[in-house]
Amino acid sequence: MLLDGTNITLGTCYYPEHWNRSIWADDLTRMKEAGISVVRVAEFAWSKIEPREGEYTYEFFDDFLDLAWEAGMRVIFSTPTATPPAWLTEEYPEVLNATRDGDLIRHGSRRHYNYNSPVYRELSANIVERAARHYAGHPAVVGWQVDNEFNCENQTFYSESDNMAFRRFLKEKYGTVECLNEAWGTVFWNQTYTAFSEVHVPRRTNSGAVNPHLELDYIRFISDSVCSFAAMQADILRQYIKPGDFITTNGMFGHIDNHALTRDNLTFYTYDSYPNFAYCVDGFQAQEPFKDRWSSRSLAEVRSISPKFGIMEQQSGANGWNVSMEAPAPRPGQMTLWTMQSIAHGADYISYFRWRTCTFGTEMYWHGILDYSGRENRRLKELREISRKVANLQEAAGAVYEARVAIVRDYDNQWDAEVDHWHGRILRPSEDALFTALQQSHVMFDYVYLDDFVSVGQLARYSVLFYPHPEILTKQRVKLLEQYTASGGKLVVGCRTGQKDLRGFCVAEPLPGLAAYLTGTDVPEYTLAAPDEADVVINWDGVKLAAPVFRDMLAVCGEDAQVLARYEGGCYAGEPALVRNCFGRGEVYYFGSTFDVATVKTFLDKLSVKEPLALLLRLPESCELAVRRKDNTDYIFVLNYTKEEAKINLLFPLEELLGGMREEGEVTVPAYGVKVYRTSCMEREAINRGKA
Ligand code: GLA
Repeated sequence: MLLDGTNITLGTCYYPEHWNRSIWADDLTRMKEAGISVVRVAEFAWSKIEPREGEYTYEFFDDFLDLAWEAGMRVIFSTPTATPPAWLTEEYPEVLNATRDGDLIRHGSRRHYNYNSPVYRELSANIVERAARHYAGHPAVVGWQVDNEFNCENQTFYSESDNMAFRRFLKEKYGTVECLNEAWGTVFWNQTYTAFSEVHVPRRTNSGAVNPHLELDYIRFISDSVCSFAAMQADILRQYIKPGDFITTNGMFGHIDNHALTRDNLTFYTYDSYPNFAYCVDGFQAQEPFKDRWSSRSLAEVRSISPKFGIMEQQSGANGWNVSMEAPAPRPGQMTLWTMQSIAHGADYISYFRWRTCTFGTEMYWHGILDYSGRENRRLKELREISRKVANLQEAAGAVYEARVAIVRDYDNQWDAEVDHWHGRILRPSEDALFTALQQSHVMFDYVYLDDFVSVGQLARYSVLFYPHPEILTKQRVKLLEQYTASGGKLVVGCRTGQKDLRGFCVAEPLPGLAAYLTGTDVPEYTLAAPDEADVVINWDGVKLAAPVFRDMLAVCGEDAQVLARYEGGCYAGEPALVRNCFGRGEVYYFGSTFDVATVKTFLDKLSVKEPLALLLRLPESCELAVRRKDNTDYIFVLNYTKEEAKINLLFPLEELLGGMREEGEVTVPAYGVKVYRTSCMEREAINRGKA
């Protein structure tokens, strides 16, 4: 069984419908020979099961599944709802998504449907049920993927069905139109409604501004729509799947509460990891300074959604649509590096996108392991080498990523930061800086999303929490943070903490609102950082920290609070800029500005969490460090993402698993190279004691 903690498994994505069936058997044999034992199929193949409305033909995938079974291959079968067929969209145009101006998004690409069309729900339920009833019992099938990449390419929905569903969503949430008016502050600019039928999903407006509280609820509504569409499918699948088979979905895109989606519907979540986006020559995603190392941030997020997770699509070739995205082929070693990046972060299933590069269609330049001809090539050779290395890592299956620091998030703030320009301007750079500083200081971290399901016990696993700018706070979240801190945790927050409520209204209480008691801080004044005051710094024991984007002037308001740093320069010169409040057995730090990399590094230093393995090994900033722990053994991953070799220093002899050698002292990690060291916790403790 995948992800049961006993194995790390390799798979691939295969499209039998793209190839002459005469090559299927050979492809399956070659996959097996290269170490692949699972294929994912059918996510875009509705017409292969229902070529015309009400006409069903199962032979195509029956034949494929039989061959797969004979080849000893396991299959993940997908529901094909990401690409409704032409007969469907032609007959029922109301299933299509629309632009903000209400124009229908036409057939021809993918994900052109909307989640709320009753017709689409019915036809989707039908195809899911037909596919599940027919294929779920096949012995080769081990699990199901629901749809493909919810919200990929488009995260906004403006069809008439969405309008109607939005009104139902609001009616359920607010009960009466009066309560809705209150919750959205519609008295402002005379937006008051007299009936739910007057409410619309966001539309084109003068100046582009839309009621911000409506927009925030609209994103919640989209998330709700995705979750209920997925639930409709998962409920059907559960009736048919064999005991032990799983239900998953893949991707990780915006405007979805992926935690709720997973909790309510899936056995586990899978992510699609395309680190080579960072090398796109058209600047599609210029991810400086880390390039492909940024994918580690997404992997941390997936881990938060689903502690057990797999990679449904792991990049193996160049990116390329005929209309966009141009990237070089992965260099020798990068396919291995990205595989190990995923494993280092906790993935025990890695499935390559895709086995063969398609010779036609929009993705004809999106390469897989094999090129068009299917001939032997470098990437297939590298895959065989990966399989050999993964065999050496099998004992690490099920090991848990070891983080003692977490970045706290919640969907309300993430989505409000999209809607509210001021909020986005402070949250995004701080989150980027946190990731960069944590990576460069080799501090493993998790994301924790504060929702109704998080317990103090879960938070207590971390000695330090960074919750950079929780503008929106609720009593319940504050209580959780109070309990965490009281029991010894250290919490760091930044400017604008507590300034909004769940509706996205600014609170009328003195700032930081609900967080005043917890932080022991008062915010008598605040300002955006003016360009002519760009040189303002915060002096913390002689270390001068930048105060970019926004500044809260602080004051202490509790007996246990103390000013640690003050502004230098600008209007707030001499005023408190950093307050520490001792709260129970823990501490809360209120930093008055946004966080840049140097600021985060200073916190990591002062809070004694940087370089957690410094007694065991030393490594340059250019290498990522990740540790997975199982029973009493640590698996220490060192990943070099650069084209230069890196030198690391092992202070004790350690067993390296990929090469099967013991290593000590200065060790070279080749360009794009990876090392995985095994050490027992006892060994580590002895080392720590010896050095202490
Ligand atoms: C996604 C999809 C795949 C394919 C690849 C490459 O992640 O799930 O179907 O389109 O990207 O574009």
